[in-house]
Amino acid sequence: MERILIIGANGQIGSELVDALAARHGERNVIAADIGAASAHGAARYVQLDVLDRARLARLVDDEAVTQVYHLAALLSATGEQMPLKAWHLNMDGLLNILEVARERGEAGRPLRLFWPSSIAAFGPHTPADATPQHAVMDPASIYGISKLAGERLCEYYFARYGVDVRSLRYPGIISYKSPPGGGTTDYAIAIFHAALRGERYDCFLCPDTTLPMIYMPDAIRATIELMDAPMERVAIRSSYNLAGISFSPRELAAAIAGALPGFRIAYHPDGRQDIAASWPHSIDDSQARRDWGWQPRIGLAQLVGDMLEHVDAGATA
Ligand code: SER
Repeated sequence: MERILIIGANGQIGSELVDALAARHGERNVIAADIGAASAHGAARYVQLDVLDRARLARLVDDEAVTQVYHLAALLSATGEQMPLKAWHLNMDGLLNILEVARERGEAGRPLRLFWPSSIAAFGPHTPADATPQHAVMDPASIYGISKLAGERLCEYYFARYGVDVRSLRYPGIISYKSPPGGGTTDYAIAIFHAALRGERYDCFLCPDTTLPMIYMPDAIRATIELMDAPMERVAIRSSYNLAGISFSPRELAAAIAGALPGFRIAYHPDGRQDIAASWPHSIDDSQARRDWGWQPRIGLAQLVGDMLEHVDAGATA
């Protein structure tokens, strides 16, 4: 029986993982944790936790006999540029805390399996931008991307040196409707639906032809759980796996939305987030994930757009 702790459970990925893992392992075995006083999504079991408090994190892992941790708490790329030191502190020290707890538990004969998200933001302007390979030049330009690349190196180090069973995905931009956009550069592709459904023009902060790798949430959740379920010997990459869904530009997404909502309009006012996006890949080669543990994306642009238009709560802020 698994006992699962999800840190950052109120965020975009966490809120959906809580439900997916509760359906799989039972609500009693899934503990949602975040910095806020309450669960943002009605998780059955919720604890308030600051991941920077290592002693409390260690106590929680022991008290709940946790066997798997999903550590998702982080500042994203655009927010990170507003607060670079805070982003570095939270993203790095949060990861180090959970890696250390996992190392100690492993040495005590109580190993933890750990998931930590990396991102396409770990790549940079000298990375090959099309079909970016698993192993490539990585020179991230944002503080968020720098923290993700450093985090990948730490994960590989803790696996090689201490045998910590840590697994990771380089997520593309994740599109979803359950949580409002949370300060990411790829979040234009969520905010655009909120504007469209309110009947408003969308003012996009990226240029029309900025193609970025994206994935729809159900595919992202399935990839995460498939990687965590994979037997040890199938997980050859201990930094972070490339992961692809679909790639599209703001112009292509707007055209697909206009196809369903005639009259929808978009205007382009690129800001600093365009510089971040310009340093990221256009598309990702995820053949290693396909080979190693059978990854296969399922959801394309048409299905994503149809589903988002059906489910986005236009009244929610975005
Ligand atoms: N979607 C994230 C962002 O835009 C990248 O990991 O910050």
